[in-house]
Amino acid sequence: HKDLLDITQLNKEEVQHVFETATYFQEINSRPVKKVPTLKGHSVVLFFAEPSTRTKVSFDMAGKRLSCDTFSLAKSSSSLTKGETLKDTALTLQAMNPDGIVLRHWASGSAAFLAERLDCSIINAGDGRHAHPTQALLDGFTLYQEWGSLEGKTVLILGDIAHSRVARSNVILLTMMGAKVRLCGPRTLLPPYLKNWPVKVYSDINEACKGTHAIMCLRLQLERQQAGLLPDTREYSRYFGLGYRQMELASPDVKVMHPGPMNRGVEISSELADSAASLVLDQVASGVATRMALLYLYLTRQKQ
Ligand code: CP
Repeated sequence: HKDLLDITQLNKEEVQHVFETATYFQEINSRPVKKVPTLKGHSVVLFFAEPSTRTKVSFDMAGKRLSCDTFSLAKSSSSLTKGETLKDTALTLQAMNPDGIVLRHWASGSAAFLAERLDCSIINAGDGRHAHPTQALLDGFTLYQEWGSLEGKTVLILGDIAHSRVARSNVILLTMMGAKVRLCGPRTLLPPYLKNWPVKVYSDINEACKGTHAIMCLRLQLERQQAGLLPDTREYSRYFGLGYRQMELASPDVKVMHPGPMNRGVEISSELADSAASLVLDQVASGVATRMALLYLYLTRQKQ
């Protein structure tokens, strides 16, 4: 593929190939000297029109570790603030001949919009509430490293499903890799199209957690909330916040995940976030290796 827009573009073998390539780069990341010449002579623009810590820094680090030149552009310091359109901004960037553009944008479909119009690779780093494929790949890779296989495991995604591109991408990836996916959240934060998804839906957190092997907490996406759907955070935390009580109902070796940023004490208890069961920082480390794998696979696609 030229572009990575959504997990739906990949099949099981391709996801497995990303996991195996990321395993190779994870080993390189554990060395004292981590820089390799793999993408020397290549360049990528990191175009982030929405805030980001993890995705932006890990793509930047991934590129630099592969000797790929990385150039960062944020909305606030770009000519988007002077009225330039997304398309003109992207055509301007393409005229400088990068091998790829990593795009984060608030509009669902923005990455696909650019992919149709540009010759270079577009990697979707999160478009509105639609998709966050590199997050799902790094989450899947984290669990693959933990378990060796996702086949037959039960993963609960807990929280604001309706506004979450992470939930949507993870449902597709986790089920493709053989996991059983459960979703749980307040009724107003479960999307109406859920009946078409291959998931079990719960409104009771304790029922949802029973026997699960991993629980992925999501934050309330307050910036995407529609008026009237916004739950009170204290009430949300009381009914849907993950704590030790739920851990006791889950599988004894249950893992806790969060794509970040976390709101401690709202969707996840602070103690749990720092506990031995937490994979939150493993996810961040896996993110660098996964994005190294993706930059390598997408930027060198013609040469493979
Ligand atoms: N998980 C995630 O996308 O985090 P950032 O918004 O910090 O990139």
